[in-house]
Amino acid sequence: MSHDREEIIAQLGGDDAVRRLTSEAKADALEHHLQGKIARFPTAAQVEAQIETRTYRQGVGFLFHNAGKTVKKLQPMPAKPTLKDFFRLRFFHTANHVLQSANRARQNGMQEEVILACLLHDVSQELIRVDHGWWSAQIFEPYVSEKTAFAIRYHQALRFYADPAFGYQYPALYREVFGEDYQPEPYIEATYSMVRNHPWYDLPRLLTVNDLYSFEPGVVVEFDEFTDLLGRHFKQPAEGLGFDNTAVAHIWRSIAMPDHPL
Ligand SMILES: [Fe+2]
Ligand SMILES: [Fe+2]
Repeated sequence: MSHDREEIIAQLGGDDAVRRLTSEAKADALEHHLQGKIARFPTAAQVEAQIETRTYRQGVGFLFHNAGKTVKKLQPMPAKPTLKDFFRLRFFHTANHVLQSANRARQNGMQEEVILACLLHDVSQELIRVDHGWWSAQIFEPYVSEKTAFAIRYHQALRFYADPAFGYQYPALYREVFGEDYQPEPYIEATYSMVRNHPWYDLPRLLTVNDLYSFEPGVVVEFDEFTDLLGRHFKQPAEGLGFDNTAVAHIWRSIAMPDHPL
């Protein structure tokens, strides 16, 4: 069931209420819903005008601000933090979303590299939200296959482009976030063209298909459901993430210790 359809049914009072409507009343309800939607989305210029109304920049990571309110003290990380520790102690804003996406990918019978990409794809947004596909791919690159990193990196560009062959539509959420008339920047367009013609196109595309653009209430997915998959496809460093001297160790430390000023 599409998000739109669910939303209309909910607005009308649920399945039973919809069943009682005449077809004319249903058509009216749909028209009202669509009019409401068009009016609700801002333009790209209106989105830009919001910048100076905030005390933080939209691209800052979730861990680093609390929308103008005070932030909370974080629990310290273990000496050799694992991916699970980061999910438990730092990925407060993104864990639920990526777990639900990975769960959906598994239910849809995706290959394990795609399920893993779904599990990891957005967590860099705890640090920085600008170009989160590139950031997420980068922090995981030393620990996952090239295909998984490819899927993570490029889902960010692909999500702006519909692909009916995969049943992927432009998400309504983006009209809200970027503005109704938003056009992706030239580097996103160039990346899309490159990936569209790449032999691994399916991987990031399947990530966008299994990505969730709205929170699924009541669906709780535990990290431990992916322990076996991670055992097969994620090279957890013995020294802990942040302490293994890879080129990305400092990025993990920045997530682990976001209160360090220098
Ligand atoms: Fe994403
Ligand atoms: Fe996502």
